[in-house]
Amino acid sequence: MTTLTVLPSGKTYEAAAGTTLLKALQDAGEAIQSKCGGEARCEACHVYVSAGRKSLSKIQRAEDAKLDGIVGVSSNSRLACQALLGQEPVTVELLS
Ligand code: FES
Repeated sequence: MTTLTVLPSGKTYEAAAGTTLLKALQDAGEAIQSKCGGEARCEACHVYVSAGRKSLSKIQRAEDAKLDGIVGVSSNSRLACQALLGQEPVTVELLS
């Protein structure tokens, strides 16, 4: 288990390592969208990772390609459906 903190609310949740960030956020009841079913095709789950980026799984080709086309992408952007939680705490900023 690890701790997931969500901004701007500052709420924290416990989540299992190996879970996608998207599933952890949805299970917690956070308002995050998924229009493509977690296939790295819709951009709806774009979040900024404020802390704990290294705890997440590495960005793979499909996510990298999608992030390239997103307006407002930054070096701490992730697609929540593609990022697997690790053991270290993670803080994410929801964009919508
Ligand atoms: S849910 Fe569509 S890109 Fe993540």
